Amino acid sequence: MSSRFDSQRFTALARERRLALGAPFSAVEETGSTNDDALLAARAGAPHGATFLADAQRSGRGRRGRAWVSPPGENLMFSVVLRPRLEPERVSSLTLVVGLSVREAVDKRLDGAARVKWPNDVVVETRKLAGILVESQLIAGRIEALVAGIGINVGSTPVEVSDLATSLRALGCADLERESLLCDVLGGLEARLSIHARAGIGGLIEELRAHDALIGRRVRVDESTGIARGIDAGGALLLEDETGIRPIVSGTVELLEGRHPPGPGPR
Ligand code: BTN
Repeated sequence: MSSRFDSQRFTALARERRLALGAPFSAVEETGSTNDDALLAARAGAPHGATFLADAQRSGRGRRGRAWVSPPGENLMFSVVLRPRLEPERVSSLTLVVGLSVREAVDKRLDGAARVKWPNDVVVETRKLAGILVESQLIAGRIEALVAGIGINVGSTPVEVSDLATSLRALGCADLERESLLCDVLGGLEARLSIHARAGIGGLIEELRAHDALIGRRVRVDESTGIARGIDAGGALLLEDETGIRPIVSGTVELLEGRHPPGPGPR
């Protein structure tokens, strides 16, 4: 595939759909990291919805300082400036709001196979199709803006993780157009942000439950192992082990073998 992102086409589609997110819009052939571009712009006053896309990143990053490597012009990599009126305790669940929006957009092209893997991935089976990195711009401890950085494997899978990752192309998807995919993600995000502002992640809990990659699965979260029992109203992962069910607020999850019958936790 490898092509330049067509900004004019994206802008026309976004206008047709009356999207609020995605404007102002900037697309470049190459940058360091679109999250850095968006954070810099946010510091300079960029409005809610400003979106920064690149065909290639020299130093794209993921959670926990990991590199996000992607061949030029193959995948969808962008960052959106968000200025939601959010209480600080709702911020961590924003990654899940973005995750649901990405999931829906890719799933439309895949017929029901994509799931959200807490806290920040979209997967098909056990393979990662997309990753999300939400970062915040703080002033005197107050959240001034958030940047939601999204990488979706469209045409190719990073070579170094090809056994752990997948792409829309590898999954046999016929529609690999990045411009309409971006519109779908932003449209879904717009709708869910207003639910989240009104009701918090609780307003999206049914959707999360329906598309949770971990629920009922045996998982390792950093040092702990147990059965994933869903996500609570604060956006924490519920992990059941011999001591009971407890919320985990952050961590890296590894899926272990096997599915387990429903336990006593929230469904
Ligand atoms: C992860 O899976 O750990 C998150 C990956 C996030 C990657 C995207 S690509 C666009 C944006 N710019 C970055 O540097 N990172 C995010």
